[in-house]
Amino acid sequence: MTGPVLAIDQGTSGTKALVICPERGVIGSGSAPVRPRYGPGGAVEADPAELLASVIGAGERALAESGGTVDAVGLANQGETVLAWDPDTGRPLTEAIVWQDRRAETVCTELAPHGEELKQLTGLPLDPYFAAPKMAWIRRELTREGVVTTSDAWLVHQLTGAFVTDAATAGRTQLLDLDRAAWSPAALDVFGLGGERLPDVVDAAGPFGTTGAFGGDLPLTGLLVDQQAALLAQSALDPGTAKCTYGTGAFLLAGTGSTPVRGGSGLVSCVAWRFGGHTSYCLDGQVYTAASAVRWLTDLKVISGAADLDPVGSSVPDSAGVTFVPALAGLAAPWWRGDLRGSLTGLGLDTSAGHLVRALCEGIAAQVAELAGAVTADRGTPLSVLRVDGGLTRSALLMQTQADLLQRPVEVSALPDVTALGVGAVARMGHDPTLPLDRAVPDWRPAAVYEPRIGPDEAAERLGAFRAAVHTLLERS
Ligand code: G3P
Repeated sequence: MTGPVLAIDQGTSGTKALVICPERGVIGSGSAPVRPRYGPGGAVEADPAELLASVIGAGERALAESGGTVDAVGLANQGETVLAWDPDTGRPLTEAIVWQDRRAETVCTELAPHGEELKQLTGLPLDPYFAAPKMAWIRRELTREGVVTTSDAWLVHQLTGAFVTDAATAGRTQLLDLDRAAWSPAALDVFGLGGERLPDVVDAAGPFGTTGAFGGDLPLTGLLVDQQAALLAQSALDPGTAKCTYGTGAFLLAGTGSTPVRGGSGLVSCVAWRFGGHTSYCLDGQVYTAASAVRWLTDLKVISGAADLDPVGSSVPDSAGVTFVPALAGLAAPWWRGDLRGSLTGLGLDTSAGHLVRALCEGIAAQVAELAGAVTADRGTPLSVLRVDGGLTRSALLMQTQADLLQRPVEVSALPDVTALGVGAVARMGHDPTLPLDRAVPDWRPAAVYEPRIGPDEAAERLGAFRAAVHTLLERS
């Protein structure tokens, strides 16, 4: 029997922590911002010390609010962010190269002849989004010293001294053999990473040592990459469901059970999680810029923040022919053109901030609708509902647009960020190995359901306008 656990979600723009009690639910929460830095050539970097400080700060705040102690800690991580570090001292040797960073495009171009082989081996297309191209780029451009790993392995080493990564995070590197859920010597060779010392690939449920970072010695018993943790919390495993988290980017995942599905629709086939040596798989599609596109509009002073989406967007009835492809860090699935940049078309002297906001919501929602269509094609089962979480789900305009373009109901999580709930469930399983998965995960109870308000013809027309804008970008490149 496990008491409360501290569940921490280390994300791109901040860390959120919850203290979750099995009987009373969330009894404490805390957060701490992270400020990625953007640079030329598609550079996106974060300070590793800031990542660690945010984990500890958010965790301490959640514990203080709960007013009590916890039995165990779980940690979710942002997946494909990498750094080099000294395994003896733990000292970072580089900045954290964030998943959105595009500078490893050079590595991908050079390795393009191996693209199909890598896809078969790892389930992932060759793209700088994944960890291995960035790891190879760090080795070529920054340092040959120390180890080069995803950020979770460094954070866990800082917290407990262990050198591990969970199978789902390892699956985001493009170095994991998808069928065996073990490091692939062939993939390591392709990236020139054959001689690297890599963390042990572990199940999601620990224990993975103890940490004194939050006062007292607490066991770290849960590790899971963030999107998969959100998938777990939203119980989106039935063939008719999928989940989408609208964070810095938007990520749509759908479970495929104990077999990886290598479909032809451009999605990623990857590990959902591994418990007791048994691997579950999922399909995954990505929109690289969601909240970061909202931040971009905010930086340009079109709006003053995400809370403005609804009031500003509602000042006009539609986007008046403005089409926004918000590919501000390139396009991921199903196009895989990270080199593309966004486009804004149909502007006139009468274009207002409201039209731009509506076009942005339409651009994000249209990409998610494309991903949902790809899931339907690859799983061979129509999607009946999309479960959603993340900060941008507070925008009724975005959620209604999503339901309209998807032509399916969109169920919004009561808690905006369920990633911590998912890794909290994993931490409970690690602390109490008798606890089954279905009892560890809280029941799914949506706070709101958005039903489509337009018919299929209008949805097809609006999606068609977005596709035509993407097509123009693809043709021009
Ligand atoms: O793949 C990167 C993604 O998992 C990061 O999530 O919440 O930081 O946008 P988030």
